[in-house]
Amino acid sequence: MRTPLVAGNWKMHLRVREALDLVGALRQALDGLAGVEVVVCPPFTALADVGRALAGSTIGLGAQNVHWAPQGPFTGEIAAPMLREVGCTHVIVGHSERRHGLGETDAMVQRKVAAALAHGLVPILCVGETLAEREAGRTEDVLAAQLGAGVADVGAADAARLVVAYEPVWAIGIGRPATGAEANRVAGLLRTWLGERFGAAAATVRVLYGGSVTPETVGEFAAQPQVDGALVGGASLQAEAFASIVRAVLGARVAP
Ligand code: 13P
Repeated sequence: MRTPLVAGNWKMHLRVREALDLVGALRQALDGLAGVEVVVCPPFTALADVGRALAGSTIGLGAQNVHWAPQGPFTGEIAAPMLREVGCTHVIVGHSERRHGLGETDAMVQRKVAAALAHGLVPILCVGETLAEREAGRTEDVLAAQLGAGVADVGAADAARLVVAYEPVWAIGIGRPATGAEANRVAGLLRTWLGERFGAAAATVRVLYGGSVTPETVGEFAAQPQVDGALVGGASLQAEAFASIVRAVLGARVAP
């Protein structure tokens, strides 16, 4: 059975002081909770401080981006060993806000996923179709291309460590998520494709849903057998909301 994962993507929010306040409240609410993995992904400027504040915690630390090179002349970029140094265990790769807002391509995502794994970071590989792609009936083609490129350089031995997040672009940040049934169908499809590529290892890959997950909407996704948790944006900035999402995911998993 797959341990569910709930990751908070703080995006470009929170100064260091605010980040530390939030993580303090999250430790109070969530530390030691068994049966669910929790990760927070602060902006780069807060990673080191949040990493220190999470010492001894069961909450993991993730970055929101990584460069594929281990070091070098890449102004403004951050390398995987630097993320490891400040305590990161995870990194979000290929978020739609980077793909569509900042020109990140499948080829770049491919290299980032491989670099993350090579340096001991768990990549949270984001895939998702835009509204135009969905309306043109291209959802499955887009997802297959994004997933295929994302895992192209992943060896079978590393496959089980992957996390994939299905984030339909049209459902992000607007308070109107996909339905649980849609998320379940796509998560199952992604797992089938991973199975074709990696065989049995695909069964242990966690597939998350992201896009307007809140305490009010999470129940719909937590109940789906193919969905192994959530990648949460806006609601992850409030300790009580994020904690209640985590508890809902855990509750759905341990319920008979
Ligand atoms: P929201 O939860 O704010 O819709 O954001 C989702 C997301 O992009 C998480 O990576």
